[in-house]
Order: sequence, then C-alpha cells, then structure tokens
Amino acid sequence: MKNFLFPETASTVATEVDALYFGLVAMSVFFIVVVAGAIVYLSIKYRRRRPGEVGIYQGEVKWLEYLWTGVPIVLGVVFFIWGVGPYLKVREIPENAMEVAVVGRQWMWKFQHPDGRREINELHVPVGRPIHLKMISQDVIHSLFVPAFRIKQDVLPMYYTSIWFEATKVGSYRLLCTEYCGKDHSVMTGWVHVMNPEAYDEWLASDPQDKLVGAAERRDEVASPSLQRGASQLVRAGHELFQSLQCATCHQEQNLGTGPSLIGIAGSRVQLDNGRVVVADDNYLRESILNPAAKVVKGYAGIMPAFRGRVSEEELLALIAYIKSLRSPR
Ligand code: CUA
Repeated sequence: MKNFLFPETASTVATEVDALYFGLVAMSVFFIVVVAGAIVYLSIKYRRRRPGEVGIYQGEVKWLEYLWTGVPIVLGVVFFIWGVGPYLKVREIPENAMEVAVVGRQWMWKFQHPDGRREINELHVPVGRPIHLKMISQDVIHSLFVPAFRIKQDVLPMYYTSIWFEATKVGSYRLLCTEYCGKDHSVMTGWVHVMNPEAYDEWLASDPQDKLVGAAERRDEVASPSLQRGASQLVRAGHELFQSLQCATCHQEQNLGTGPSLIGIAGSRVQLDNGRVVVADDNYLRESILNPAAKVVKGYAGIMPAFRGRVSEEELLALIAYIKSLRSPR
C-alpha cells in the first residue's frame, strides 16, 4: 500500500501499523467533523435573535453524560486491544533473527554484520529474513527510524536497545536519526539496502578485508577458552581481544582463576554478592566489562579492573559475541 498518507510499506509489520494509524486518523476526522459541525450548526440555530435574549436552563441530561463517558472508554479499549498486537510483534525479537550491531554517534550510523563486515550509513540486509538490530550510542541519545519498515527505537549510551524487522521487498529505503542530537542531526541519515539472499551473500563475500579488529598480536601464557568450530569473524575478534586484554588470566575455562568462568554465562542467572539474582544478558555483560564493581558475582572479590575508556563500543560488541559463544562441550 503506497498512497498519499503513508510511505512505502516494506516490512512484515508495516501494513498492520498503517491500519492502526489509519484507524486513529479516521476516528479523529470523524470527531472533528461531528464536534465542529455541531458547533457551527448549534451556533446558527440558537443564535441570539433579539438584544437582551437569555438562554434557558436545561438541567442535567443524564443520558448525554453516560454517552460522552462511555464512548471514549469503549474507543480507548478498542484501540488498546488493536494496538497490543502490532506492539508485541515489534517488541518480541524472533529467535532466529540475524543480529546486526548498530553503533550511533555524532553524526553517523555504524553497522556490523555477524561475520564482522562493517559499514557506515548503509546497511545491507537479505529480504525475507528477520534482522535484529542491537544498538548502542557512543555519545548522546539518537533514534533509529526506517519509515518504510515502520520501526523506530531510541539508541542510548550505556545501554543496548533492540528493534527488529523483516524486509518484504527488495529496494533501498531511507534510514534516519529521529532524535535531535546536535548540529548535524539532520545529516545523520543513511540507507537500508534490501537484497535477494544470494546477492547478500555475494555482497558479504565481496570485501573480506573490511573486518574488525586490529587486536594486538601479544599472546599470554593462559589460553582463553577455545573458539567453537565455525565461529564468526565477530566471535574471533572477541577471542583475540580476550587474549590481548588478558581476560583469560582470571576467567579460565574451569573456575580456577580469580574470576568466575565465563563458559555458559550468557543468558544464565547469576547470583550476586548482595543477594540479588540477575540475568546475564548483553547489558549485564557490557556493564560488567566497563564497570565490574557494579554487580559482583557471589563468592568473588570485586577486584577486576574497569575497562571503561579502554575498549570501544565495537570491541565490546566483539567481546560479548565471544562470551556468548562460550558453551560447555556437550
Ligand atoms: Cu543522531 Cu539525531
């Protein structure tokens, strides 16, 4: 559906979002016509005809009060129920979604594919496949908006936010920053290029040079937990960082080091020394690298150095990807 009211529809949620939006517009137009019409009609019908004319007191009109209380309640509930469907669909990220990391900064968008391929202000994705955007800002609050997909999500410093889409049409679509973020906010734009899966694979293979990460050559004595077979470039980059930052000195495969083993930690429930239990999601892992003292695992001394300022957002994404790849051998 492309018409005067909406931009192109190119994602699986677009039509539903449009229908809801159209419903709200139609309701608003209806009430504007009814209310404005009544104002015009009644002010003509009951206009003052002689000087000194006074209105009559009407008393209470019960049915009218019930009506103007009841109708908005019903309409509110109807639109709430109508809206829950698309809302949950946009919020719940499908399990099989391909994760693309997004780093926003003044004033550009940086994207990183699971295989490590990186791009700026352009995002190539395959059609018909759910894409999960895991997003963080390097500085101020930005907001990622792709009108043709009907998705919009704030991008925050200090905290990963997520949104997903599945493109339904091959083509190039505008991508915008929609949170005022400083002088060049208006040029913080880009394109999403939706490609056929074969074209996407070709594109991925076309530039193997442009990969993360110049991790240091240095090797330390303690080997990091080993890579799974078929690990992505991103995971490999994380593994290299894990070595060069000497994380493995404390986080060894078994719980022999000064810090807890990281095997299987991602997504698990972690008992903290203050009695709380948290889920080790991406945000927990990120915080624990940057500011380890914030949530110390029970039974361990909070002696890990803070890495705030020592690793970039891209490096954090790689480290987290590596940690998430660590599973105990089955
Ligand atoms: Cu970034 Cu506006």
